[in-house]
Amino acid sequence: MERLPGFRDFYPEPVPHKDVWSADARQFIFGKWRETARRYGFREYDGPPLESLELFTTKSGEEIVGQLYNFTDKGDRAIALRPEMTPTLARMVAAHERAYKKPIKWFALPQLFRYERQQKGRLREHFQFNADIFGESDAAADAELIALLIDTLRSFCLTAEDFVIRLSSRNAWQEFYERGTQNRERPTEGEYHFYQVIDKLERTPPEETERKLVALGFSLVDVNRFIEAGEPTLELKAMLDNLAARGLRDFVKVDYRVIRGLAYYTGPVFEAFDRKGEFRAIAGGGRYDNLVKLVSGGKVNLPALGFGLGDVVLLELLKARGLLPQFDGGVDVFVLIEDETLRPASLKLIQDLRTAGRVVEYSLTPAKPDKQFKRAQELKAARTVMVGANSTVRVRNLDTRQEKIGLAAEVVGLLD
Ligand code: HAM
Repeated sequence: MERLPGFRDFYPEPVPHKDVWSADARQFIFGKWRETARRYGFREYDGPPLESLELFTTKSGEEIVGQLYNFTDKGDRAIALRPEMTPTLARMVAAHERAYKKPIKWFALPQLFRYERQQKGRLREHFQFNADIFGESDAAADAELIALLIDTLRSFCLTAEDFVIRLSSRNAWQEFYERGTQNRERPTEGEYHFYQVIDKLERTPPEETERKLVALGFSLVDVNRFIEAGEPTLELKAMLDNLAARGLRDFVKVDYRVIRGLAYYTGPVFEAFDRKGEFRAIAGGGRYDNLVKLVSGGKVNLPALGFGLGDVVLLELLKARGLLPQFDGGVDVFVLIEDETLRPASLKLIQDLRTAGRVVEYSLTPAKPDKQFKRAQELKAARTVMVGANSTVRVRNLDTRQEKIGLAAEVVGLLD
């Protein structure tokens, strides 16, 4: 039986094949995501991987809806695996926002599913670090979120030479669109289609873009001129100053080629890319001040902003820059049992060491001493411990080869 295309198997290191993924690397990434989110005061939440189809169809925009894994369940409900976390979060916040002081700052590490063509950096399942803020419309919140994104990437030892946050604004494009359509009829959905053309600018041949723009009453020359000028809006200026005060200015640049494909964004938007432009977007996000209102049927209205940072491109980048650590089982102690009459005393010692928080391994069944020692070395255990006569133990540091002898009751002290 083969696994489905675009899905991944995660194995403990060392991974047995180039087509499988490292469970240790995944855990390492999740650890950094959680650590950084907590440093910024974000609290963890979670939601269900299955949602009613309706939650996504009107909120997210055509592209993601075309990639939905959806089906009818046994109760005749139209449902979908979540392709992104934001609509679920908007639903959760709308339901219970009164119970929380504002601004609400939450994060999650969901697994997401998109039925898209499998390619480099894009799979049918991925994990995302999502961080979102609700209840604050000041640009200070946008800057705080971008600082969190920068520090998350920096926690993996990536620098301003490795990545850049490309900052843009739906407001700037909205003004551009309104200027361009002044005094003429605006087709319904015209603005959304215009955003879609800008979103695909870098991935579409110029002639095709020009044709689409002309159909909407614009020209590629004007669009390119606007992008090249890159004049920051007031909100973008405030964000840049805020980030400069933190010493993070080198990590961001204004780039109006970014507009974001998802339909719900309203204000500043951004994407993180590797500087060399070898990989697809590492992260993306922005303001979506109308989504809570939309999802709650007008009952709750809260400004909101957030980003999603995927594990697939991040891992590719960390591998390419040699920034993944060597992973091993982290075994502190391998207990050698050379005399089977001492197995009960050894089990007691193993139990004591584990209770003290040490990672302990040993041979489950009788084995020759050299085989046990070899296994300790394979596991890269820091020390071996052997129980001797009269409740003594012999502790050996496998790096320095130094030995200590003491009482079994004091074994934890002998490890330091
Ligand atoms: P998104 O741009 O669709 O945004 O996804 C964010 C990141 O997730 C991307 O930059 C990429 O690294 C990763 N990603 C997306 N699709 C795939 C895929 N098929 N395979 C591997 N990685 C992928 C959102 O999802 C928004 N909901 C983010 C957000 C949160 N906006 C506000 N709050």
